[in-house]
Amino acid sequence: MKTLHDIGSVREITRGWRRDGESLAVILTMGNLHKGHMSLVSLAHEHAEKVAVSIFVNPTQFGPNEDFENYPRTLANDKRRLSRAGVDLLFTPSVEEIYPHGQEGSTRVVVPGLSEILCGKTRLNHFEGVASVVSRLFNVLQPDIAVFGQKDYQQLVIIRRMAADLHLGIEIIAGQTCREKDGLAMSSRNQYLSDTERAAAPELFRALQACRERLQTGDIDFDALEKAGSARLAKAGFKPDYFAIRNAGDLSRPTADSRHLVILTAAWMGRARLIDNILVELL
Ligand code: PAF
Repeated sequence: MKTLHDIGSVREITRGWRRDGESLAVILTMGNLHKGHMSLVSLAHEHAEKVAVSIFVNPTQFGPNEDFENYPRTLANDKRRLSRAGVDLLFTPSVEEIYPHGQEGSTRVVVPGLSEILCGKTRLNHFEGVASVVSRLFNVLQPDIAVFGQKDYQQLVIIRRMAADLHLGIEIIAGQTCREKDGLAMSSRNQYLSDTERAAAPELFRALQACRERLQTGDIDFDALEKAGSARLAKAGFKPDYFAIRNAGDLSRPTADSRHLVILTAAWMGRARLIDNILVELL
């Protein structure tokens, strides 16, 4: 596996692959890789001849009081895992390489509407930071395919919209959420949980499952179900940000005719802000 830090060297390598007719799938990450990321790498191998991973803790997607400084950075370990998984190229740029004109003065990419709801209501500018860095990394790597985890469902929908709007010609593939044995979605932020908080955390997934069951048995009082979901989380010790039922395709509010839904939630447990979601198909 080649590890590169500068855009020029990445371009040289990927240009060679394209010239040889080899397709490229990428996984964009902020590092601190866990089984969830590695399952995206396996999925990428199924879809393309070459696989590249980026590790870049993107400052522009963190709010002023968020965990940018303390975000876990474990590059040596990440490298070992990626190399063992047969990744061809690891791109680990510096902040200056990605934002040559500084973070404030650089071009930004905004996906309006979708970026201001759900997580975007409390994480102001978060998705602008995500879209801005993802578009840069796409431009540098120029992949045929990009694999993103379904756990960050709103991010996935936003990136799909951005790729379509900008005619990027990149196929966006979703990888299933990897869960611990008790159902907790794998996330780098789970390590912020104390033992007691960790024991309570699987209630997030259970609340989603309970809501899905209600929907599948014909209860479509969406407002009441959302309130019940939030109340259940609060009772388990969470501070819920939202518990929402949306159309899976565009995150709009569902109607009685909606069939493809997603239930999404974000909630604080101690100093960890956890997110999760579950898809629901109605007959
Ligand atoms: O999902 C993430 O880890 C990040 O939001 C991403 C897509 C790598 C952009 O920084």
